[in-house]
Amino acid sequence: MKLNFSLPDSDMSLAGIASSNLKKKLLQLGVSPCIIKKAVISLYEAEINMVIHGGGGDVDIEITPELIIAVVSDHGPGIADIELAMQEGYSTASDLIREMGFGAGMGLPNIKKNSDFFEIKSKPGEGTTVTIKVNIV
Ligand SMILES: Nc1ncnc2c1ncn2[C@@H]1O[C@H](COP(=O)(O)OP(=O)(O)OP(=O)(O)O)[C@@H](O)[C@H]1O
Ligand SMILES: [Mg+2]
Repeated sequence: MKLNFSLPDSDMSLAGIASSNLKKKLLQLGVSPCIIKKAVISLYEAEINMVIHGGGGDVDIEITPELIIAVVSDHGPGIADIELAMQEGYSTASDLIREMGFGAGMGLPNIKKNSDFFEIKSKPGEGTTVTIKVNIV
């Protein structure tokens, strides 16, 4: 089963829609709460990053009997130093974004912790693609 969402830049009323729809679908499929939590947290963080930092983009989800795969991609500014971006507490979020409760610099580390496979590919000036996999069995 496949799900796809396109999210515009900086629209916080839509950010979160892919992960909440994933949650609904996984609940319908009877997936265990622990696995749902891992997948939804991971996708939420990537989705929010795409909207806040990446200028919006696409979320492509595939659910198989074994696996949840989410690819979150944007054509935003990209990340120059991925190792630095992965560090807990590192954030380039603006004051406005911080006032909205984001910008703790915990999103990427949280994805790594909660997923079974995590890959981030990014090129400055071209964009960022995050691939997340969570095993169902
Ligand atoms: N899609 C993206 N495009 C460009 N930069 C990104 C993207 N995703 C992450 N980054 C960069 O990596 C940094 C760290 O991301 P991370 O999700 O860990 O923290 P945050 O989004 O700043 O804060 P939090 O997720 O805790 O609200 C961001 O501040 C930003 O500089
Ligand atoms: Mg984040």
